[in-house]
Amino acid sequence: MTDSLDPNVHPDAERESEIVAAESQIYPPAEEVVANANVPNYLELREEALKDIEAYWDARAKEFIDWYEPYEKVLDDSGAPFFKWFVGGKTNIAHNALDRHAKTWRKNKLAIIWEGEDGTLRTFSYFRLWQEVNKFANVLTSMGVQKGDTVTIYMGRVPELPIAMLAAAKVGAIHSVVYGGFSEQALADRIADAQSKVLITCDGAWLRGKTINLKDIADEAIRRSPVVQNVIVFKRTGQDVRMEAGRDFWWHELMSLPVASTNFDTVQMDAEDPLFILYTSGTTGKPKGVLHTSGGYQVYIATTLKYAFDVKDEDRWWCAADPGWITGHSYIVYAPLILGLTSFIYEGAPNFPYPDRWWKMAEKYGISILYTAPTAIRGLMRFGDAWVKRHNLDSIRLLGTVGEPINPEAWRWYHRVVGREQCPIIDTWWQTETGGFMITPTPVVPLKPGSATLPFTGIDADVVRENGESCDPNEDGYLVIKKPWPGMARTVWGDPDRYVDQYWKEFEAQGWYFTGDSARKDKDGYFWIIGRMDDVIKVSGYRLGTAEVESALVSHPDVAEAACIGVPDELKGNVIHAFCILNAGKVGDDTLVDELKKHVRTEVGPIAVPAVIEFVDSLPKTRSGKIMRRLLKAKVMGKPLGDTSTLAD
Ligand code: WT7
Repeated sequence: MTDSLDPNVHPDAERESEIVAAESQIYPPAEEVVANANVPNYLELREEALKDIEAYWDARAKEFIDWYEPYEKVLDDSGAPFFKWFVGGKTNIAHNALDRHAKTWRKNKLAIIWEGEDGTLRTFSYFRLWQEVNKFANVLTSMGVQKGDTVTIYMGRVPELPIAMLAAAKVGAIHSVVYGGFSEQALADRIADAQSKVLITCDGAWLRGKTINLKDIADEAIRRSPVVQNVIVFKRTGQDVRMEAGRDFWWHELMSLPVASTNFDTVQMDAEDPLFILYTSGTTGKPKGVLHTSGGYQVYIATTLKYAFDVKDEDRWWCAADPGWITGHSYIVYAPLILGLTSFIYEGAPNFPYPDRWWKMAEKYGISILYTAPTAIRGLMRFGDAWVKRHNLDSIRLLGTVGEPINPEAWRWYHRVVGREQCPIIDTWWQTETGGFMITPTPVVPLKPGSATLPFTGIDADVVRENGESCDPNEDGYLVIKKPWPGMARTVWGDPDRYVDQYWKEFEAQGWYFTGDSARKDKDGYFWIIGRMDDVIKVSGYRLGTAEVESALVSHPDVAEAACIGVPDELKGNVIHAFCILNAGKVGDDTLVDELKKHVRTEVGPIAVPAVIEFVDSLPKTRSGKIMRRLLKAKVMGKPLGDTSTLAD
């Protein structure tokens, strides 16, 4: 067990009292909701599914997904923990998301409604989206992109981002979307790790009425990771950018070439062929490229969305995440399209130009389901009820949250003010690695504010002690998943050992997946997530490794050593508090604090900027030289230091 992996590391007193207070408060589902639910017998189905997960997922794979060729075997666990699902099946996610709908009545249905921050409205019917994706698939092919190649996508929140993802999937390429809020070094590391020869980006992105210079950042990243041979640039802001002849091409010019035909033969993929890589933070410095594959991922995300959010054809679904995160991959782009839904995407900031921007759009487009993060809810709650109440939100019938534990106060506000006390709140616990929702209610499950409730159908989750015994009710422990599921990550890109080490070492004897989270189960079997047990910090729901921020800090010439911890924050969930040891002769003043913040911003991105930077002469370390971040945290929070026997001095 590493120093930090200790259930007592993050004793979060506030979360503790929240859980105790909220545990007995139950919101039962309204009769009407149950009567109209897609899966009214969900609770019984959960027990049924766990008895035979292969039979259960076999049925879902046939229900939601078309296969060019059927699979021979549902689950192959012979190479565990490298599980294989739907072995031998041939499919393509773009076929299920687009091709098949373009031929039915859904041809005329809206697939995407998009509003720009400047108010621009763009809509895509299934037919039009299918054509655009075909055109771009032809562009990629003409650029030499083939099955198995990686393509890095670094764009703002524009419809061309899902178009690029779907086109990559169509040609059999592996996409790696890098969130548009990341900066030079973060992008460079991800390009280098994926070895992408093609980068798709934008000239710039709009945020709060200002432009972010994506192309400049991309140019610098390519300078640092010169594997990229071609860049495709979508024009969004019209700002001046440097285009390198022979390397850089405008999206709109390529799309008007004869080669960009509206016909494209979707490439048939094996169920276990890679679909995408998505980088996420872990315990060590280098971001991990989490790999998802073509077959099981589709089955899993379609099932989870259909059941948990009870989606119907008449819905207008709004997942207010960024397509650049797993939430967006699974629930803005792929699952809604597989299920033939209308997905709404908004480009910009929630409070621009006024704090009612979201509510105004929810009314205007008749949004029926809204899915967002607790940090966004807290941020909007701050502006007061009036901004919400001046809009008619009667179309909303379900609400959802994801990314971090939701504090019951925010839950109740969301429920009362946004949901008119009528909308169930679907609190979904999951991870980049799990592909889709793992612990979540559906509208028929009685809710407790702050609890993600119960594991999904076919998911065997538990809270256990270090030795693998199940914890008693209300005892904190390790959150584990005991059986495989189709949406699980298959490996860490280029580093299978790291995959085994990160997720399968902790409970190797039992063969369980360790999530990295601590949790407890109450007497009703409801799960309460407490937080990360490793060196991962959730800032505004974004996942950051302490190591990433620390390596950005020490890349500054004045900094010798750095350590970062997460400190609870009312709005952001956590903020980063950094400790730096400076090189001899350097002075730690306010100017340097500002300079270091700026440095982290340009190296990693704005989300990684520490709220506090403190200069110190030494850092507490174990005798083996590992920084004991829990001692730093205890000190900042004015808590007892606990066991210090491994401290070097
Ligand atoms: C970590 C995974 C999965 C999409 C967004 C985050 C935390 C996620 C919840 C929730 C409490 C949550 C966990 C998890 N988390 N959802 N509903 N309640 N905590 O994906 O960036 O891979 O982060 O987010 O700590 O391990 P991610």
